[in-house]
Amino acid sequence: MGYKVAVVGATGNVGREMLNILAERAFPADEVVALASRRSLGTEVSYGDKTLKTRDLATYDFSDTDIALMSAGGDVSKEWSPKIGAQGCVVIDNSSAWRYDADVPLIVPEVNADAVAGFSKKNIIANPNCSTAQLVVALKPLHDRFGIKRVVVATYQSVSGAGKEGLDELFAQTKAIYVNDAVEPKKFPKRIAFNVIPHIDVFMEDGYTKEEWKMVAETKKILDPKIKLTATCVRVPVFISHSEAVNIEFEKPVTADEAREILRSAPGCLVIDKREPGGYITPYEASGEDATYISRIREDITVENGLDMWVVSDNLRKGAALNAIQIAEVLINRKLLPAKKKAA
Ligand SMILES: NC(=O)c1ccc[n+]([C@@H]2O[C@H](COP(=O)([O-])OP(=O)(O)OC[C@H]3O[C@@H](n4cnc5c(N)ncnc54)[C@H](OP(=O)(O)O)[C@@H]3O)[C@@H](O)[C@H]2O)c1
Repeated sequence: MGYKVAVVGATGNVGREMLNILAERAFPADEVVALASRRSLGTEVSYGDKTLKTRDLATYDFSDTDIALMSAGGDVSKEWSPKIGAQGCVVIDNSSAWRYDADVPLIVPEVNADAVAGFSKKNIIANPNCSTAQLVVALKPLHDRFGIKRVVVATYQSVSGAGKEGLDELFAQTKAIYVNDAVEPKKFPKRIAFNVIPHIDVFMEDGYTKEEWKMVAETKKILDPKIKLTATCVRVPVFISHSEAVNIEFEKPVTADEAREILRSAPGCLVIDKREPGGYITPYEASGEDATYISRIREDITVENGLDMWVVSDNLRKGAALNAIQIAEVLINRKLLPAKKKAA
């Protein structure tokens, strides 16, 4: 007997990917329900070879649902996750609404699966920001061996990280430029087609953006509060997959060869690192894949115990949908899901 799973935000980029991954991984679900806003009532979405008709979140009763995979934004999550959790359904949330709550575990299964045990205080588990998820998968094995002191990261984030409106805007602007039409930025603050924008999410008082702050706070919560991290988050005209140029300073001496060997056998990591043209991964190739790819591993010639590397992953998968489903699998494998509904 399997579980009843609700995908909330099923018509969005992440929700659709969740449905794909549930089917691909043969997740033990007896029933999968697609939920979104009233606007999408009846909209058809694919789940493996089945088609689901989207239902309205506002009128759905969660009392016999085991797991809610939420990807409907922070405001919806703030309002609905506590109500869903109170009905005994475990919420795995993709928004930033709960990530920094001390009573909500923030989980990347390859890194801190054991921390999931604290979920029952609110019945909510948070998924990190997409740029943090892939970063900590690559940092964890190196931190365990060499002890990370400081990380400097620049991100190259795809437009799908800004939802379906982000994808539409890059597509529409690219088309408009080819036919000499006017380009009107709507979702992004400046033109994104054939451009890059060093600004994601809102500005904070200290000059960092919220996206950059999230990477700092989430890396500390998931991996180690002692790690110092500074980030510059940049939106680039790529449809799917985020890339990151990462500089790391360690406590212990490290060589590029040692790092490469460790990463080769680390969970979730795939090293593609030939020092020749094309011997590295690009976001186009990482799209639709599950791994966090690591390339361009080299010693930093300017500091003691420093490394540089290039980290790429599909933001809709490891950065969101896949990570959420891996968390659900941890709950099932560790027998942490309340039994009442499964038995009902
Ligand atoms: N994209 C990424 O790489 C990424 C990574 C990590 C986390 N996230 C987070 O995941 C969430 C979803 O992102 P996305 O990229 O999938 O966005 P999206 O493509 O814009 O989709 C948003 C989804 O939320 C639904 N929704 C909006 N308002 C709702 C309401 N009042 N009630 C019920 N459903 C509602 C939408 O349904 P309708 O179609 O009915 O409007 C749609 O299904 C966000 O919190 C985002 O920050 C995204």
